[in-house]
Amino acid sequence: MGCPNGIFLICIFFCVSSIPSIFVNASFVRQDSFFIDCGGSKALKLEDGRIFEPDSGNPNLILSSQSHIAVSDLESNPSNHSISLYNSAQVFEETSFYTIHTKQIGRYWLRLHFYPFENAKFNLKSAVFSVMVNGITLLHGFSFAKERKISQLVKEYVFEVSGKGSGKSLVLRLSPWNNSVAFINGIEVVSVPNGQFSSSQVMSVPLGKSLVDVPKDAALETAYRINMGGQHISSPKNDTMWRTWEPDHAFLLNAAAARTIRADPGSINYPDGVSLDIAPNWVYATAQEMADAKVSSQKFNISWAFEVEKGFSYLIRLHFCDIVSVALNRLIFNVYINNQSALDSFDISSRTKKLSSAYFVDFVTNLSMHENRILVQVGPPTLRDLPSNAILNGLEIMKMSDHRDSLDGNLPANNNAGLKSGAGKKKWMLLAICASSSGFVVLVLISAAFFLYWRQIHQRKLRPQCSAWLSFPSHAGNSDSKVSVGSYDYSTAHSPGLRRILAFKEIREATRNFDKSLVLGVGGFGMVYKGVLENGNVVAVKRGNPRSQQGLTEFRTEIDMLSKLRHRHLVSLIGYCEELNEMILVYEYMAKGPLRKHLYGSNLPPLTWKQRLEICIGAAKGLHYLHNGAAESIIHRDVKTTNILLDETLTAKVADFGLSKLGPTLDQTHVSTAVKGSFGYLDPDYYRRQQLTEKSDVYSFGVVLLEVLCARPPINPALPREQVNIAEWAMSWQKKGRLEKIIDPRLRGHVNLESLRKFGETAEKCLAEYGVDRPTMGDVLWNLEYALQLQEASTQSFSSENSANYIPDMPEWLQEIRNGNGGGGEGTSDQESDATSSAVFSELLDPRGR
Ligand SMILES: *[C@@H]1O[C@H](CO)[C@@H](O)[C@H](O)[C@H]1NC(C)=O
Ligand SMILES: *[C@@H]1O[C@H](CO)[C@@H](O)[C@H](O)[C@H]1NC(C)=O
Ligand SMILES: *[C@@H]1O[C@H](CO)[C@@H](O)[C@H](O)[C@H]1NC(C)=O
Repeated sequence: MGCPNGIFLICIFFCVSSIPSIFVNASFVRQDSFFIDCGGSKALKLEDGRIFEPDSGNPNLILSSQSHIAVSDLESNPSNHSISLYNSAQVFEETSFYTIHTKQIGRYWLRLHFYPFENAKFNLKSAVFSVMVNGITLLHGFSFAKERKISQLVKEYVFEVSGKGSGKSLVLRLSPWNNSVAFINGIEVVSVPNGQFSSSQVMSVPLGKSLVDVPKDAALETAYRINMGGQHISSPKNDTMWRTWEPDHAFLLNAAAARTIRADPGSINYPDGVSLDIAPNWVYATAQEMADAKVSSQKFNISWAFEVEKGFSYLIRLHFCDIVSVALNRLIFNVYINNQSALDSFDISSRTKKLSSAYFVDFVTNLSMHENRILVQVGPPTLRDLPSNAILNGLEIMKMSDHRDSLDGNLPANNNAGLKSGAGKKKWMLLAICASSSGFVVLVLISAAFFLYWRQIHQRKLRPQCSAWLSFPSHAGNSDSKVSVGSYDYSTAHSPGLRRILAFKEIREATRNFDKSLVLGVGGFGMVYKGVLENGNVVAVKRGNPRSQQGLTEFRTEIDMLSKLRHRHLVSLIGYCEELNEMILVYEYMAKGPLRKHLYGSNLPPLTWKQRLEICIGAAKGLHYLHNGAAESIIHRDVKTTNILLDETLTAKVADFGLSKLGPTLDQTHVSTAVKGSFGYLDPDYYRRQQLTEKSDVYSFGVVLLEVLCARPPINPALPREQVNIAEWAMSWQKKGRLEKIIDPRLRGHVNLESLRKFGETAEKCLAEYGVDRPTMGDVLWNLEYALQLQEASTQSFSSENSANYIPDMPEWLQEIRNGNGGGGEGTSDQESDATSSAVFSELLDPRGR
């Protein structure tokens, strides 16, 4: 999903004829489709072939408004040559209506586009307005100013034009709030094929005795549409309904539990009742299955969680297609929705009688006012000796309009505007009549609507794509080959989203045609080369293995993730190339390589304690930024010493956060290596609860701190049992207050005891059993800064003063140990540290300021 693919055009009534031939075979002949470029001045043809017509002078609609003003981005930004629906908007100072007469009754998709671009006339970002369609509230008091996290909004509905009353039409009402304006950039209206939402009764979860009604006139809003194990699908070539499907990894709770499987999309069968319009074969051809499936002893669920608005009912559609079995009736599993059984011992093949056959099933679940999460799980049945496996291919979650005819929870309970029988609705009908009476027969309608929602939570995974899209408007869609235009000095750039698209030729030259002698390393993704770009910048070039199952999605997600992040302590993405089937990412070059190499397993000179502290602080800043600095919190998921890279000056930068989020979709070997590789860093609480939070990164970072202190791997099976796991081993010493016993011998004599204590305490807190007990990265950062100050204060006093604070060659702590009063000495040393550190403290009030 992500950003609408670009551009939108208004297809007129008869634009069916211009629909590419691919649709000819589709089971459904589209009767009506309207693509409207609001505020536009001429027809806008998108890459996908659709033509959006301007709203003014459009024969297919009536715009009734006392005051409407078309604004264009091109006036204030004449250098913008991209073709985009988001270059213009229609702005309304009074409540206004678009009336569109449809040819038929039935359900329609409705997609609304909002993008508050800057312009001289209006501040669209602060506009507050409501939107209704045929009396159903879609947005109530919406404002981009309130939704800090999103820069654009695309909503999609399918609504029913009932034909009741006097006709067939859709009336979209936009009403500005006090002294504000309303605006809209684009509108799409497309008929929904029969059979898409044919059953008016579906199963409910928790499973009741009878089916529940889905009222025909209920509006639906798509909250999520997910392609499990697959990639982002937004091209109309791949979805006959111009829908977007997004990858699932952002929602997987236990990434390591799932493994991506793919089949040839051409092998998918569509039995009667299921067509490409239900879901493209690209959706059915990928799935997540249980990692290490076929091990019969294994019993766990694959879980996905989706944040949704509380208090609404949701229609949940699960898409299945058995692309894993070699015979019928071999794949039997359970499906749970919100911890309740939805399908018990479900056997897809018993329904489809065929393998690789598309199947979908709908459920309705009501969320109380306390729940804002939908949890979908698949797992093996408990009492079976069959090889355990479970799959899911696709998932759609649609919010249903409530009894107030609203899809916006902000609508106050006593608000009449949305009530069907209320004055609001009558007024709406009246206006609709007025609006339409001018030219056409008067029509009234009731609808169901279907919404592609780009909302906060939803934004979580969508936004990256949006920002990438916004920064490369000409790159919208699936164009596979782009060449950079001009050169861009990334080293000084600080605006997120500015990444170059590099030509393959440029990269080939930079790496001397991928010279083996330039290989820096090999990862699951492919080879990493050192390269020098034309402008002299040294870069690391990660070239995706074309055969790697990891594929395009991960590649794009990495780009999307990285495109919106820029921080001194995160490795930056300089550009990428997506040409000729190549998937290449170009990063800043980190001359000193991974932190681990400087700790053990190489002949590099040991890092001093101060350097180690500074590196930890740098990495903590990077993680702190990931968790808090970006518009939405990002969890790294794979914090370890090999993912902390050092540049020439030993500045630490966190790397690989895009890919690490994608753990589950890596190919099998990669998943198992990833699990092994990160073994020792894994948050026990994450495993237990299968809920990923920032605190999982904090745990892993605690392990990193110990590794830095002790210069040994997190897990070393060669050691005696109690020493194998660094976290256990070090914590047993920390609890005794004797962490110094096990530190890197090369540090001995150079570490201030107070600094070490602070460091040890910090690591201990990070490793707390339960996430809630662990500090935030901000606290960790603060504590590390403090440890550094303690260290510096001690060395300063050593050099400037003399005997009083002198630190002997034999460290204080060693003396303590010799004297056998380690525990007893603590009180004294605490007091000392308080005294010496109080000055230091004041400098630390704003750790972020540093
Ligand atoms: C879309 O379909 C084309 C073939 O029509 C295929 O090559 C391409 O990989 C598909 N893209 C996605 C994102 O599914
Ligand atoms: C499902 O169960 C988990 C763990 O028992 C719990 O944390 C979660 O809140 C439950 N979710 C719902 C929607 O009931
Ligand atoms: C899967 O999840 C359901 C509902 O949350 C739970 O009842 C069941 O025990 C889980 N199964 C396994 C094997 O963990």
